[in-house]
Amino acid sequence: RLGKGMLMEVIHLSEISSTNDYAKELAKEGKRNFVVLADRQNNGKGRWGRVWYSDEGGLYFSIVLDAKAYDPKVVNILTPVCIVEVLKNYTDKELGLKFPNDIMVKVNDSYKKLGGILTELTDDYMIIGIGIDVNNQIRNEIREIAISLKEIVGKELDRMEIFSNILKTFESYLEKLKNKEIDDYEILKRYKKYSITIGKVVKIQLSNNEIITGKVYDIDFDGIVLGTEKGIERIASGICIHVR
Ligand code: BTN
Repeated sequence: RLGKGMLMEVIHLSEISSTNDYAKELAKEGKRNFVVLADRQNNGKGRWGRVWYSDEGGLYFSIVLDAKAYDPKVVNILTPVCIVEVLKNYTDKELGLKFPNDIMVKVNDSYKKLGGILTELTDDYMIIGIGIDVNNQIRNEIREIAISLKEIVGKELDRMEIFSNILKTFESYLEKLKNKEIDDYEILKRYKKYSITIGKVVKIQLSNNEIITGKVYDIDFDGIVLGTEKGIERIASGICIHVR
């Protein structure tokens, strides 16, 4: 049982297919409250079955929690908040969250993606997979939409320091939640403060490929609230494209 000053076990590998997949194997055996960190992934997974390029220099890790010990909906909102709060200390550039949990940075008036989160949830465990482009070279195919911290800061950063700061921040929030020193709505408030999606007109592509267009009124634990032609629609998740 993790208590005060909780410190999750970190399993650090040089290379693996996907830290989420490796974490899942251990989670299936009953292991909880640990982190799998890899220097490279040769089959990194993004959301919606996309690939996540995972070359050396980036941060690729998966945190496994007991799904009954914490509310997955709160953890979902908390994770990107922790990442932004830590990365803020490394750059003066404006950071933001694109729904649901893309970590974005503003460069020359447009936002590029710095990191993403792939959460896999069962009734028993929650795997929170985090990928952040720190010092890795961004592949040509995604240069238009992605950028590394190294590129925006102009020098290599200490990726292990960033990793441990994110983990510490995350653990400290979890402990505060447990002890009721902070409530779910405070976390949501912080998420909304960083959201660059609220107020925008967006297209959300659902898993059945249907696309819903509307203006974003709100984001909460259950997803996004859109004002559409047909009225208010609530959408749990999907691929979000900012229109204006
Ligand atoms: C996204 O599509 O934005 C989510 C990307 C998540 C990538 C991370 S890297 C560590 C973990 N292992 C994976 O295979 N994916 C996640």
